[in-house]
Amino acid sequence: MELVLASNNAHKIDEIRQILPAHIKVLSLKDVGFTQDIEETGKTFDANAEIKANAIFEQVQLPVFADDSGLEVTALNKAPGVKSARYAGEPVDAEKNIDLLLKNLEGKTNRKARFVTVICLKLPQKCFFFEGEVWGQITTERRGQGGFGYDAVFMPDGYQQTFAEMSAEAKNQISHRKQALEKLLPYLAFLA
Ligand code: IMP
Repeated sequence: MELVLASNNAHKIDEIRQILPAHIKVLSLKDVGFTQDIEETGKTFDANAEIKANAIFEQVQLPVFADDSGLEVTALNKAPGVKSARYAGEPVDAEKNIDLLLKNLEGKTNRKARFVTVICLKLPQKCFFFEGEVWGQITTERRGQGGFGYDAVFMPDGYQQTFAEMSAEAKNQISHRKQALEKLLPYLAFLA
């Protein structure tokens, strides 16, 4: 079975290739010649994942795997949510996003947050959705050098390290992406 991954991010593609069973041939957007920019106009992670999956499926007519992720902070009414990448505006700047997040949480005692990933598996007849999440706390300052995005200020529940202080392997064992992929796996076995 060939599966088109709605990404050109080599790191993400590698991570997903490693998790998926070997009989699934994972193709990048580059592999299938998809070069269009897709506008993620949805108000939910599900909607954005589906927008991406549908746009690609229309062109390539192969099963598509599209995901959308972000951070939801309870005390900020689930912001930054689907705007996680561009929380502090354009151009995308992860450091500015963290600065704004810490500023908006100043003086707040409730620092609960969750990372969410929604995967849309688009097959010719139907879309299937799989959601993964990891709950934690937003720290009051940055800690650690690893990871990306909000990792330096996110400490998962049950751990004393932020995602940026953990090894990539340790983070990938518990991450929202991993949880969503785990839910997807039995479906792939069933479909293949
Ligand atoms: P994407 O949909 O996977 O591209 O994620 C959108 C945005 O959410 C990223 O640009 C990050 O700001 C944030 N994000 C998603 N996953 C993570 C993560 O594992 N660590 C830190 N930030 C993340």
